[in-house]
Amino acid sequence: MSELFEVNAAKCLKCGACVRDCAFRALRAEADGLPKMAFPDRCMKCQHCLAVCPVGAVTFDGRRAEESVVTKGLELPSAAATENWLRTRRSVRRFSSDDVDQEVLDRVLKALGNSPTGCNARALTFTCIPTRAAMDRFRGDFIKAIENHRDGTKLLPRWLAVPAIKLRNGGEDMFFRGATGLLIVSSDETCPGVTTPGEDVTIACSHFELLANANGISTCWCGFLGLVQKEIPELLEVTIGIRRTTPFYAILFGRGAVSYPRGVQRDGYANIVYRR
Ligand SMILES: Cc1cc2nc3c(=O)[nH]c(=O)nc-3n(C[C@H](O)[C@H](O)[C@H](O)COP(=O)(O)O)c2cc1C
Repeated sequence: MSELFEVNAAKCLKCGACVRDCAFRALRAEADGLPKMAFPDRCMKCQHCLAVCPVGAVTFDGRRAEESVVTKGLELPSAAATENWLRTRRSVRRFSSDDVDQEVLDRVLKALGNSPTGCNARALTFTCIPTRAAMDRFRGDFIKAIENHRDGTKLLPRWLAVPAIKLRNGGEDMFFRGATGLLIVSSDETCPGVTTPGEDVTIACSHFELLANANGISTCWCGFLGLVQKEIPELLEVTIGIRRTTPFYAILFGRGAVSYPRGVQRDGYANIVYRR
């Protein structure tokens, strides 16, 4: 098993950058100036020590500096490109029946492992229904779960019953908008280090939207699924094995069948309060 923190003494400049950047003060400079993992219990495994070292002298948990992406000269989206995306991104609710490219999807989902999580908990699971065929099976299971749900004599609310009947009868799909894919991001509620599960899943969904759109995949947030889960707590448990207590959020995706020649105008909605 590899050490959590290793430093190559021949390379280390003893500059203290890793010690200074350690958020929970798990690292300490020894008398000889070399950094050491003094308090492993405090370490949140964020890998900042690996990232910040100017000469790549740090190996963290077996991850060698040479295997990290080099940030110098790395292509990043410009400020203009990023703002343009935010001003023109759209919730797409019409999709073609073609599946998205599996390789592209794999790459995007892997990149999502980089999404920040509170205290670096890294307890997210990305449950992905990637194809039209799989989505159609899920829709079937979803409807079955709604039909099988019994809560005494309580009737399903109209906002849920009406779209469910439409979907079952092959009509409009108000829940999933005819998407060929669904990503459910969940956070393991049994994991002791998780402090911000709701925020973690929402941030990852936001990053999925960004990365998916950048790769030509259209998306739409699927808040409806969460509302249905509140009425039918066993829903995700019986359909895809996500426990009823697990925090999650969902996002639909696919190849968009609609394009928007212009953006909407919302800069004015930013309620900015500077307190200088
Ligand atoms: C948290 C959240 C949940 C949403 N849930 C749904 C949903 O269940 N179904 C849907 O069609 N749109 C959903 N939307 C899309 C919003 O209606 C949409 O973002 C809003 O109308 C603005 O449109 P735009 O995303 O195209 O800018 C959701 C958006 C957010 C941020």
